[in-house]
Parts: sequence; structure tokens; C-alpha cells
Amino acid sequence: MNDTIVLAYSGGLDTSVALRWLADEYDADVIALLIDVGQGIDAEAVTARALAAGASDVEVIDAREEFATDYVLPVLQAGALYEGRYPLVSALSRPLIGRHLVAVARARGATAVAHGCTGKGNDQVRFETAVAALAPDLAVLAPVRDWGMTREQEIAYAEQHGIEVPVKSGEAFSIDHNLWGRSIEAGPLEDPWVEAPEQAFALTISPERALPAPQVVEIEFEQGLPVAIDGERLDLVSLIGRAGALAGAHGVGRIDMIENRLVGIKSREIYEAPAAALLMAAYGGVEELVCERDLAHTKQELALQYATLIYNGLWYSPLWAALQAFMQHVTGSVTGTAKVKLYRGSCAVVGRTAEGSLYDHGLATYEEGDSFHHGAAAGFIHVWSLPTKTWAAATQPDTVEV
Ligand code: ARG
Repeated sequence: MNDTIVLAYSGGLDTSVALRWLADEYDADVIALLIDVGQGIDAEAVTARALAAGASDVEVIDAREEFATDYVLPVLQAGALYEGRYPLVSALSRPLIGRHLVAVARARGATAVAHGCTGKGNDQVRFETAVAALAPDLAVLAPVRDWGMTREQEIAYAEQHGIEVPVKSGEAFSIDHNLWGRSIEAGPLEDPWVEAPEQAFALTISPERALPAPQVVEIEFEQGLPVAIDGERLDLVSLIGRAGALAGAHGVGRIDMIENRLVGIKSREIYEAPAAALLMAAYGGVEELVCERDLAHTKQELALQYATLIYNGLWYSPLWAALQAFMQHVTGSVTGTAKVKLYRGSCAVVGRTAEGSLYDHGLATYEEGDSFHHGAAAGFIHVWSLPTKTWAAATQPDTVEV
């Protein structure tokens, strides 16, 4: 009996060639596993392509709801942005796909799983670290990394083996897409001086050509879960889709950055994540009303660590669980609504209200009804500045009088 290998299959050239190559090289049955994370798949066409490439079987799993709830939502709630900007789009889908690879491998008695990543990116690290955490005994194969074929050689291999070569528009780019956003790399983008051409984008219109009038949208949260947009209750997957469409039409959510990959390379990355831009802004708007100061500051620091950890492929790790527990604690109080204005590429919170708001109008007001103890401020400042004053007097005795 042949060995069985489960391959994370996308339907593209790399994984189609990898499929056939694995089957031949290892004399194995290769199960193609296609996970729908909202990238917009034609399951029938992809299944046919996998079978034509030599798959012994194809499994298609609709994981959109699981992806939204278990992976996207924690990142939204944490406000986690890698290097302060990247909402972790691809970094989030890899641990989910890794989990399904392991589950299918177990169910089918496979001896190995496989992915189609090259040796230069972060995704290989994420897949393999996820599998290492969930199934330390399972082998992971990385044919694309091992074979070292150029694109021309891959196309030649595909043609020799009767594998259909998918001709995509935007051929020059390397694209990854899920319901949280889209990443675009390579081709003309490799020159960091060159502005990304319009055809790189699919989820956002350019701010110059965006809707001419501003639009204010209301996003409602219950204990950290976004539940409604403009009063209409939506399940999480639909809500993310709606948020993306609204923000994308206003040119909101484009990111152009030089990113530090885990594998040591600086790369030029273009992202479009309109849903993330809108929902993260809205979430922050409600959270800032309910989150006590020190907690808010610490959360912000930990959010950066949380983002880096996820970026670096450590979703299944004890530190993730500990940071997640911290984030979860904060999330419970985020119940309220934010008003966000979308206009020609900008996305700004212009109003917020929350059930457990800590905003005290009496304390904040400069008008009638002020309840702040002004006299207490003088005493507070005396004690607060005492160490500084003492230091100044000791180090600059001629100029400072105490
Ligand atoms: N640089 C981003 C990341 O590391 C995007 C990766 C996109 N992956 C891809 N296979 N095109 O998360």
C-alpha cells in the first residue's frame, strides 16, 4: 500500500505541480486539501484540477466561520498589527490550515503533510511550526522549497504532465487572499520606489476615485464581538464582508510597507485590508471608553508582542495562550457602538458610546457641573514632581532653587 500525504492545495501552479511531484517522487497517494478561508474559490474547478494533476482524493473544507471566529476575531480584539501596520492576514490563515492538515492526516492515516511554500517566506515557518505543535510526530514536506525549479521549469513540468497551467490576471504578482484581506507581492512591487499599480488591488478602489461623499457607519459590539453595522445584525463572516465592501468603496485599507520577515529578509509588501481597517478603528473607539488607563497602555504593548508572535508562526504556543487570556479579560467590557467616517482613503472614529463607559462628564467638563477637585491637583503635582525637583536641585545646585 502506498503512503498517504495530505497537501495544502490552492489550485495554483505551485501546488498543482507539487501535487504531481509528490505522488511521483514518494510513490504516494496525495490527498489535496483545499480550505476556504474566504479567498473566493471555485471548488468544482479546483477539485477537477487537483484530480487532473494526480490527486488520489480531494477534500474541500469551508472554514470561513471557524477562521472568522477563532483566528480573525482574537486579532481584531487585540488590535494586533505586525510592525504597527499589518493586520496579519496570511499569518492568520496558516495556523488554521495547519490544524486541518493535521486533522485530515490523522483521519486518513497519512504519514506526512505538505505545503507549497518556497524557502524565502514566513508561511513555510507558520505551517511547519503549527504542525510541530499539533502533531510533533508528523513529517512535513516542502516540495517547492526542495526542488528548486524556476517558474519556466515548473510550467514545462506542468505541460509534460498534462497539468493545466492557470492563467491569472495579475500574473506578475504573488497574491494571498482571505476574508480578512489580501497581500500582493513581487513583480513591479519589488522596487520599493515604484508605486503599486492600480491592477494590484482588488478589494479597494483608489482614494482618488473613491465615492465623492463621506459616509458615516455605525459598528456595534457586544462583549468584543462586532454584531451589527448600521443597525443591521450580521453573523461575523457576513459582517466582515460588509465592512470590507463599505471601506473598500472609500479607498480605505491600503497598506504599502517594507516588512521585516522572520527569515531575515526585508520585503516590500502591499496589502489591502479594508474590513480590518474599519473594524479595528471602530473597536478601538469603543474600547477607549471602557478600558482603564493602565490596562489600556499595557494592552497596547502586549498587542505588539501578540502580533509579532502570530507573524512568527507561534499561534499554537504557551505564550499565545497567556497573551490571549490577557486580551480576553479586556474584551469582556467592549460593549457599545462606534461611528466611523469613511472618506477618500481615510477612516476615522467620529463618535463612540459604551455601556460600561468610564468617561465621566463631570470630571472632564470645562463647563458648569465640574466635579473635579482642582485643589487636589496642586498637592498631586507637588508629590509627583518631587523626585525630579530633588534631582534637579542636586545636579544643578546653582541654577535651581528648591
Ligand atoms: N508577507 C506577508 C506575511 O508574511 C504575506 C505573505 C503572503 N503569502 C503568500 N504566499 N503570498 O504574512
